[in-house]
Amino acid sequence: MRKKIVAGNWKMNKTLQEGIELVKEINTALEADKPACDVVVCTPFIHLASVTPLVNPSLIGIGAENCADKESGAYTGEVSAAMVASTGAKYCILGHSERRAYYHETNEILKEKVLLALANGLTPIFCVGEVKDERVAGIQNQVVESQLEGALFNLSAEDFGKIVIAYEPVWAIGTGLTATSEQAEEMHAFIRSKVEAKYGKAVAEDCSILYGGSCKPSNAKELFANPDVDGGLIGGASLKAADFKGIIDAWKK
Ligand code: 13P
Repeated sequence: MRKKIVAGNWKMNKTLQEGIELVKEINTALEADKPACDVVVCTPFIHLASVTPLVNPSLIGIGAENCADKESGAYTGEVSAAMVASTGAKYCILGHSERRAYYHETNEILKEKVLLALANGLTPIFCVGEVKDERVAGIQNQVVESQLEGALFNLSAEDFGKIVIAYEPVWAIGTGLTATSEQAEEMHAFIRSKVEAKYGKAVAEDCSILYGGSCKPSNAKELFANPDVDGGLIGGASLKAADFKGIIDAWKK
């Protein structure tokens, strides 16, 4: 069954103490007013072991923002998928445009990360999306298709069924420029059509596709109302409990 999901991506924000406070606030708010969707909070690695025991696991899943493309060994400064899983985290964002752009993560690297995340029981939240020039040139569909083909379409149907996809147009991230509801739906429907062509209708229907890029309480309801938008991956607005809760509440009737 296709899941509705609101996931936060804290990026490189919040000290450990601030992160603990934020996660407690989110947990308290959701205990008091149960969400109508799955809620995920993705934090810096250093926070994971401290925040996982602080949340009600039936309401909130914790995730990492990345993992290594190697299993273990002499890779100073890297954090493996097994280490992430050992903290109790359940999710792992992979392929975020900031990792692709600033840390040169290619499809080949991402393919390894996805396999290792899956092998360690983590749910990858796999990000795709075009930059502004690509949208202006009208090649956004080709860009997203090649990201899917390059890092995910090697998976078996069973493994692909464990992936959550996040469409994040790079020009909408942290810019206040949200994709219109029509632009989001158009791309989400395109992604689902590609999944269907590769894995069949049942897998495509079950696949959760989240929208990310300047999503906030004021626009979440309109975005989530689209038939192929199954939730959001939230940056800036996930750093305040009230804003994050406002987006989660967009799933309420
Ligand atoms: P913003 O919500 O801050 O635009 O960030 C989106 C994002 O990159 C989530 O991964």
